[in-house]
Amino acid sequence: MENKPLPPHVFIFPLPYQGPMNSMFNLAELLCLEGLHITFLVTEYIHSRLLTSTDIQSRFNSYPGFQLRSVSDGLPDDHPRSGEKFVEVFDSLELKTKPLLKHMLLTSSGGLRRPVTCIIADGILGFTCDVAKEIGIPIIYFRTLSPCCLWVFFCLPKLIDAGELSLDQSDNMDRLVKNVPGTESFLRRRDLPRFGTFGDLADKTLQLSKKEGQENPRALGLILNTFEELDGPILSHIRTFCPNLYTIGPLHAHLKAKLSPQTTSLESSSSSLWNEDWSCMTWLDSQPSKSVIYVSFGSIATLTKAQLIEFWYGLVNTGFKFLWVIRPDIVAGKDWESQISQDLSEGTKQRGYIVGWVPQKEVLAHPAVGGFLTHSGWNSTLESICGGVPMICWPYFLDQQVNSRFVSEVWKLGLDMKDSCDRVVVENMVKELMEVRREEFSHRAEEMAQVAKRCLSDGGSSFCNLHRLVRDIEDMMI
Ligand code: UDX
Repeated sequence: MENKPLPPHVFIFPLPYQGPMNSMFNLAELLCLEGLHITFLVTEYIHSRLLTSTDIQSRFNSYPGFQLRSVSDGLPDDHPRSGEKFVEVFDSLELKTKPLLKHMLLTSSGGLRRPVTCIIADGILGFTCDVAKEIGIPIIYFRTLSPCCLWVFFCLPKLIDAGELSLDQSDNMDRLVKNVPGTESFLRRRDLPRFGTFGDLADKTLQLSKKEGQENPRALGLILNTFEELDGPILSHIRTFCPNLYTIGPLHAHLKAKLSPQTTSLESSSSSLWNEDWSCMTWLDSQPSKSVIYVSFGSIATLTKAQLIEFWYGLVNTGFKFLWVIRPDIVAGKDWESQISQDLSEGTKQRGYIVGWVPQKEVLAHPAVGGFLTHSGWNSTLESICGGVPMICWPYFLDQQVNSRFVSEVWKLGLDMKDSCDRVVVENMVKELMEVRREEFSHRAEEMAQVAKRCLSDGGSSFCNLHRLVRDIEDMMI
């Protein structure tokens, strides 16, 4: 009897941050469901955090073709890897991890696993393409940030030449941008990606993003976590640089659609780096429909003490119930708790529920949640879209400034609070979203959630593109 050929073996290397890693784990699980073998490489720092916060191994237990590997990111254990130290991670990965990557790629086969058929790496890690080309393995990039921002990255050389990308806030930031085709009527200078406020580091991040625009077309294809019906016009611009796009998102919902009949627990698809506090779900259960504003600023953004206090007063003053994720590392310094006044504590006891980390996809799918005050990270934006929850956007950096403009001006799914952190503005925006224009935003958000759902069902755009990706990987086997 002839032996069945071994399935393709995909080697996945994500950027070591929560949002990008969540997307890559979801992609890995989708590919496992298609019968592919996966080697998933994380940094040792991420590996140790994954092991303490979530049972990642048991998530993939039912896929014998899945293996998790780790590699050093070259940084000391106590390096914060967030806030202003964010860019140092990239330098170290290129310098210290790149030489180890080749070895990992060449030693991941064996047993019932064929040599690596294809690499899927985060498109910001341009050095992975050099390694792939050196050892002759096909590579597909996955950019986990928003396509609208990726398109701006492709335009960075022109934006810089025209002097439109200014880090100087004293410029007239409301002027429309001329050098991002397709966005001329609504994208302002203040909506362009921010590269941090950290001097040298801002410049480094900018150079990295500029390089990325030139690097991405070197791969055989580009996977994007979006759907054609959301981003069609922008995707047609990106296709002029990278014709082979696989738009297979929203990935978390795509996975859920494929898993539904098999899933036994909501927690099974988690890859959280923090311990999820599920008690908030019980609290939400006791709240009326669409009555709660959910607040979270993702995994990287940090707040000053002053900003924290402004948000806090703003939220308490709205009179609405709020569920707020205050990550343990969100504020630099430990002494902020002593600055919470008596009236803030009282207001919070009556109306607030504060946690360190929540199961966000489940929170956004809960009927009690009527709005999301978000930093506009791309995963959070997609999760909000799928949950049919309108947004108030307070972008922090990178793609978030572009995302928030698209949320308010293109998709009409919420309000953009960009560049303002004032208790009165917070209060007014929450009231506008949850009360004054509640019907309009809810209707629009629910409509978009339906469109997202349709693209994942049999014959839908993301459904078909995932199958094309799997076929293309199968065709790479020699
Ligand atoms: C980063 C950038 O901030 C973002 O702009 C870019 O698009 C991707 O990389 P991050 O800050 O992690 O991402 O934000 P986001 O992309 O929104 O991802 C956060 C993830 O953490 C989401 O999947 C969200 O569900 C999850 N999360 C957040 C939780 O599970 N629990 C929480 O309490 C908060």
